[in-house]
Amino acid sequence: MRRPLIIGNWKMNTTLADATVLTTSIKNNVSDLDIDVVLCPPFVWLYPMAEILEKAPKNIHLGAQNMWFAEKGAMTGEVSPSMLKGLVKYVILGHSERRSHFQEKDDLINDKIHAAFENNLTPIVCVGEHEKMTSEKSKKGPGRPPHLEVKADIYRQLKSALEGISRENAEKLIVAYEPVWAIGTGNAATGAYAAEVIGKLRGVIAKKYGQELSERVRILYGGSVDSDNIKEFIYQPEIDGVLVGGVSLKAKEFIKICREAGGKE
Ligand code: 13P
Repeated sequence: MRRPLIIGNWKMNTTLADATVLTTSIKNNVSDLDIDVVLCPPFVWLYPMAEILEKAPKNIHLGAQNMWFAEKGAMTGEVSPSMLKGLVKYVILGHSERRSHFQEKDDLINDKIHAAFENNLTPIVCVGEHEKMTSEKSKKGPGRPPHLEVKADIYRQLKSALEGISRENAEKLIVAYEPVWAIGTGNAATGAYAAEVIGKLRGVIAKKYGQELSERVRILYGGSVDSDNIKEFIYQPEIDGVLVGGVSLKAKEFIKICREAGGKE
């Protein structure tokens, strides 16, 4: 049985005051749940949030939104794994916004995954179709836009992420299926569709490491998840949780998502 996992990716949002209120309120409302909750604030708020969570229940963790792979050096503006070690348990890698705005390629993401494991950080690796909806082709309501196919590309992204990763580390990895057409659009995938893709992603892991190991890996869905559609995803046995963007900034909604995932809403 895989333990449910709810992750909030705050992206480049919040003031220190917002972050403090958000973290405190989440900490006070999810401790009774038998799920893991990971908050990923901007780098500059990690330390103050770590202080707030110092005596927090064991099921609430911090994650970083990105990192560089080298330990130190002339990399102006970057943050290294050894700087994050001890401060966070998780790190998001290969988010579609990193892939598109910062041209991060599969090889670089694989280097970062290795560096994360070497520093005892758990990588949350994002994969997903990159194609956006054009306005004339976009459709209202949930589900995959009819003109978009799941591209073999996303299986390639995962295969590349797993390059050189040991069995011991592979089972600790967290994968998030986040199609660009669903991110920040209000047009989430349907639960059934996300479960189908996640099943195939699990198949990629099974092919390399065997069925038994693949069944221990947590694979999440992300893209326009909110407190209304969370049930779509959380009750699909194949989906182990969600990676939430916009709504993770709203304490009440995010707590509702966590409580639903913990079966206590
Ligand atoms: P939204 O929930 O805002 O669609 O963002 C999803 C995401 O990118 C989480 O990493």
